[in-house]
Amino acid sequence: MILFEHIRCPLHRYTFSVRPIREWVEANAEGYVLNLFAGRTILALNEVRNDIDPEMVAEFHLDALEFLRTWNGRKFNTVILDPPYAYRKSMELYNGHICSPFRQLKDALIPVIQPYGIVMTFGYHSIVMGRNREFELQKLALFSHGGAIHDTIACIERFNPVASGPA
Ligand SMILES: C[S@@+](CC[C@H](N)C(=O)[O-])C[C@H]1O[C@@H](n2cnc3c(N)ncnc32)[C@H](O)[C@@H]1O
Repeated sequence: MILFEHIRCPLHRYTFSVRPIREWVEANAEGYVLNLFAGRTILALNEVRNDIDPEMVAEFHLDALEFLRTWNGRKFNTVILDPPYAYRKSMELYNGHICSPFRQLKDALIPVIQPYGIVMTFGYHSIVMGRNREFELQKLALFSHGGAIHDTIACIERFNPVASGPA
C-alpha cells in the first residue's frame, strides 16, 4: 500500500524553509540522517549535512557524488535528496551549482544506506531509486503551491534488499 498526502503550501528555493514541508520531513525521517543537498534549514533530526556551496549550513561541502563515494562512517537510516530540480534552476537559484549525474548518484547511495532504510526525494518524479535497486515506494506527498507553479513531489522509498531475492 502506498500512502498519499496532499499539502498546500508556498514554494521557496530553499525547500525546507517552508514550515509544512520541513515538518513533513521531520515527521517522516528515521534515525541517522544524511541530508545530501542540505541548503540552509537545520532540521530537528540527527543529521549529517552536505552541500557543495560553502555558504550553506553544512559540515561537508562536497559534490554529492564525491561525498557518497568517500563516506566511510556509519550507514544512514534516512537519506534526503533535495537537489536542484533542473539545470536552469541550478544556474538561476543555486549559484550555478549543478547536481551530479543522478543515475550515478543513486547507485553510489546504496553502500551508505542501512538495509530497510529510506530515501526521501524531492523533485518531479514519484519513483527515484526504483525496484531494480531493491527499493519499494511507500509514501508520496504532493506539495501544491497554487497558481501556475508546478507541484513539488516528495517520495519515500524503502531499501528492502531481500525483496527480489529467492523466496
Ligand atoms: C533545492 S536546494 C536544497 C535546499 C535544502 N533542502 C533547503 O531546504 O534548504 C539544492 C541545494 O543543492 C546544493 N547543490 C547543488 N549542486 C550540488 C552538488 N553537486 N552537490 C551537493 N550539493 C549541491 C545547492 O547549493 C542547494 O543548496
